[in-house]
Amino acid sequence: MARRPPAAALLFAALLAAASADHGAVETGVFQVRRKFVSSGGGDIGAFRAHDGSRRGRLLAAADLPLGGLGLPTDTGLYYAEIGIGTPTKRYYVQMDTGSDILWVNCISCDRCPHKSGLGFDLTLYDPKDSSTGNTVSCDQGFCSATYGGLLPGCTTSLPCEYSVMYGDGSSTTGFFVSDLLQYDQVAGDGRTRPANSSVTFGCGSQQGGDLGSSNQALDGIIGFGQSNTSMLSQLAAAGKVKKIFSHCLDTINGGGIFAIGNVVQPKVKTTPLVPNMPHYNVNLKSIDVGGTALKLPEHIFDTGEKKGTIIDSGTTLTYLPEEVYKEIMVAVFAKHQDITFHNVQDFLCFQYVGSVDDGFPKITFHFEDDLSLNVYPHDYFFQNGYSTTKLCLGR
Ligand SMILES: *[C@@H]1O[C@H](CO)[C@@H](O)[C@H](O)[C@H]1NC(C)=O
Ligand SMILES: *[C@@H]1O[C@H](CO)[C@@H](O)[C@H](O)[C@H]1NC(C)=O
Repeated sequence: MARRPPAAALLFAALLAAASADHGAVETGVFQVRRKFVSSGGGDIGAFRAHDGSRRGRLLAAADLPLGGLGLPTDTGLYYAEIGIGTPTKRYYVQMDTGSDILWVNCISCDRCPHKSGLGFDLTLYDPKDSSTGNTVSCDQGFCSATYGGLLPGCTTSLPCEYSVMYGDGSSTTGFFVSDLLQYDQVAGDGRTRPANSSVTFGCGSQQGGDLGSSNQALDGIIGFGQSNTSMLSQLAAAGKVKKIFSHCLDTINGGGIFAIGNVVQPKVKTTPLVPNMPHYNVNLKSIDVGGTALKLPEHIFDTGEKKGTIIDSGTTLTYLPEEVYKEIMVAVFAKHQDITFHNVQDFLCFQYVGSVDDGFPKITFHFEDDLSLNVYPHDYFFQNGYSTTKLCLGR
C-alpha cells in the first residue's frame, strides 16, 4: 500500500522504528540499507558500503540486509537493499517497503522493464529457467490458495499463480509467483555474517505501471516487509530460519542504514507495541510537543481503527498528519517567525531563512505508547531547496 503517495503534508525524516510480530523461531538476520543516491549523479555504492560497514556493528541481530537510499523528497525519497536470488545467485536491488507485503522483481517476461537505472547500476531480469532452483508456482499449489483464500476459479495445474499489487502512489506491478532460493547474510555467534539461503515465493513482475516502469530511479523490484503470510519475512519465519521481528535504522543525512531481522541485542532499543490485528504496522501515538509544550489537539485524533491511526511505512517518503494536527504544528513552529513569507514550490512550502534552523525553530517530539519519544529537529523537518542553504522547505 505504500511507496510514495503524491500529496505532501509535513515532512519528517523518520529515524528508527522497530516492529515485531510473534517470537518463537530461531535465528536472526541483518539486512543493510543503502542510500538510493541520485543527487550526486550516479551514486557511489563503495562509499555507502564503507559507511554501512561501520554501522553494521552497531545493530546486532541475525540476518543482514544493507540498505541504500535517502528519504529526502529532494533526493530519491526511498531506501533499497541488495539481495541474492537463485542458483547461481544473481544480485537484485529492491526497494524496502514496510507498507506492502510481497517481494517481486522484474521478470524476463517483462517487455518494457528498464535494464539500466538512473541510479547508476545495471538491472537484472529474473529468469526462473536460468536458475536451477527456480520454479513457477502454479495456481493449485498451497501458497496460491493460501494467498487467495481458496482455489482460484478456473485453476488448472498448468496455470501460473498470478499476483497484482497497486501501491499508494498509483504505481502497480503484475506478474506470477515463482519460488527460488533467497540468499541473505546470517549473523553468527561471533557477530560476523555468513551467507545463508532459504526457499521463498515471490513475484516475477511482467508488467509495471506508473513510475515503476520508468528508468530514472528504477530498481529491480520491491521487498515488502508487511505482516501477511506472503511476505519474505513471514516465509523465512515459517521455515524456522528467522524470528518474525525486524528493526530498521535509516540515516537521513548520509543515507543508507540497516535492516535487521531478529531480536536486536545491541544497542538497547526502546520499543512501543504494535496495535494488534491491523493490516499495517500501527503504533499508538499519544501526544505531540513543539518546543516542549504539548499541542492541544482534539480527543481521539490519534485513535487507531479502520483508515485511522499511525502507520510506520518505510516506503513512504514523507510523514503524513491529519490536517488539524498539521495546522497546530505549523502555528507552534512558526510562532516566533510571524514575519516569514512563504512561497510554493511544487507541493512544498518554502521560505528564506538565514541562520541556524536548530537555534531558530523548536524541536518536535512525538510521544508513543510505553514512554517512547521521537525527537524531530528543525534540520529533520525542513529540507533545503536545491543548492541554496538559506532556502528551506517543508510539506504543506
Ligand atoms: C544454499 O545453502 C546450502 C546449504 O547451506 C548450500 O549448500 C548451497 O550452496 C546454498 N545455495 C546457494 C545458491 O547459495
Ligand atoms: C498464516 O500462517 C499462520 C501460520 O502458518 C496460520 O496459522 C494462519 O492461518 C495464516 N493466515 C492466513 C490469513 O492464511
